[in-house]
Amino acid sequence: MNLTFADGGSIPQIGLGTWPLVGDECARVVAEAIAMGYRLIDTAYAYQNENGVGRGIKDSGVAREEIFITTKFNKDDHSVDGVQRAFERSAEALNVDYIDLMLVHWPNPEHNMYVEAWLGLIALQEQGKVRHIGTSNFLPEHLDRIIGATGVTPALDQLQVNPRYSQPEARAYNVAHGIVTQSWSPLGQGNDLLQTPAIVDMAARYDATPAQVVLAWHLALGLGIVPKSSEPVRMRQNLEAGALVLTPEDVAALSALEGTEVSDKHPSTFGH
Ligand code: A2P
Repeated sequence: MNLTFADGGSIPQIGLGTWPLVGDECARVVAEAIAMGYRLIDTAYAYQNENGVGRGIKDSGVAREEIFITTKFNKDDHSVDGVQRAFERSAEALNVDYIDLMLVHWPNPEHNMYVEAWLGLIALQEQGKVRHIGTSNFLPEHLDRIIGATGVTPALDQLQVNPRYSQPEARAYNVAHGIVTQSWSPLGQGNDLLQTPAIVDMAARYDATPAQVVLAWHLALGLGIVPKSSEPVRMRQNLEAGALVLTPEDVAALSALEGTEVSDKHPSTFGH
């Protein structure tokens, strides 16, 4: 299943998150994921694993063109020249000559250079070096600013989303502007989300795992997901979450958990 971008093209709805995998382990996990059917791999300069991701893709034996690669850059590169450098560095580490989707990793509003970062991505796309451009952790106020300044809307905005912290206003803005929302840490990044009684009970009813119920909720809302796992059984479970369809009542019951978790990575104060 793919999600369609407003600028044309599409992205697999389910991909593999790679933070905090590095080195040989990262290469092994990426190659295994591709062998089991993953076609979207999510990385970032900040994860220091683009090299491992690139090796994993090569080791998989699957043609590069069949893999959708997302990467991101830090605030040090929030300028038109900086984004060019960021592309060259990431493309070299990944061992590719184009990148499918490149994102501004965080708006870093105090640094106040994210409009320049966006201009840099627009230039990269015009040069054909990246297929699609987008943002990560951009809230409506940040998106309003880059769209207002450039007239170019991101294809995708990656946001921290899980049933307990689901950013409904930001997601609604993205829908209204034709921006695909993709959830990072869709499983709560290893916190106690998957032990939430409502989720555990629902999983038992569907004869599924708590992770699959949570991922099925994201998919029902039309969100992309990039769950990370280095465990083949879980990687497969996550990929197969696409087969689990929750009733509208159960989707609503999970959405009602909104507000029961606080993020320590709010884009107005956190970023790199
Ligand atoms: P592991 O890599 O040992 O499987 P997120 O993608 O939200 O950041 O969550 C990643 C965390 O969730 C990791 O700790 C990962 O551990 C764990 N995880 C990933 N998939 C599953 C799953 N299907 N069931 C339980 N835990 C999972």
